[in-house]
Amino acid sequence: MSDDVPSPLEVSSPLMVGIVTVSDRASRGEYEDRGGPAVAAYLEEVITSPLMTLSRIVTDDIPDIAAALRELAEAGCSLLVTTGGTGPALRDVTPEATERVCSVQLPGFGEAMRAASLAKVATAILSRQTAGILTHDGGRSLVINLPGQPKAIAECLDAVFAAVPHCLTLLDGPFIETSDERFVAFRPKSG
Ligand code: MTE
Repeated sequence: MSDDVPSPLEVSSPLMVGIVTVSDRASRGEYEDRGGPAVAAYLEEVITSPLMTLSRIVTDDIPDIAAALRELAEAGCSLLVTTGGTGPALRDVTPEATERVCSVQLPGFGEAMRAASLAKVATAILSRQTAGILTHDGGRSLVINLPGQPKAIAECLDAVFAAVPHCLTLLDGPFIETSDERFVAFRPKSG
């Protein structure tokens, strides 16, 4: 049997995704969080294998963002997606919090998302969104930053999600399957 054919056990183990909305105002209840639900809706649309999501809303403070990411990773989330706090404003610190909790940085994710977004909106260049690998006692989790704008969620994830299933496999996460409607996931034949 080749390495890329999953066992039935691997197929059925659900992907747990932690969704962290980073926003002072949403965390105070001053406005409705639209970014977190947009991330969940995207994942439910594209992931066809079992999926569970856990959501948190935190302030734009490095310790709060870092704590939420660590807590969700330790709760079993192999994928962590943040939305908001990636820009150049004084309170935007999500990339710094991500770099702080990740032992390995994956700058290609941010580069690809900015490039795809820049084709749609000039202000995409303002996002410092990045990605990395958070290592904890229970394993390793992929962290991906997204801007806070709800319409940016699909624009950004469409640019990188084809690489996510294989990345999760490399991190010993669950084997996930995706629909081919928005992108076709790529898995190298060997590895
Ligand atoms: N990327 C996409 N695809 N679509 C958008 O509307 N908004 C930009 C940028 N990236 C945007 C985008 C804007 S206006 C800003 S300020 C930065 O993301 C940072 O947003 P954030 O601080 O909410 O994370």
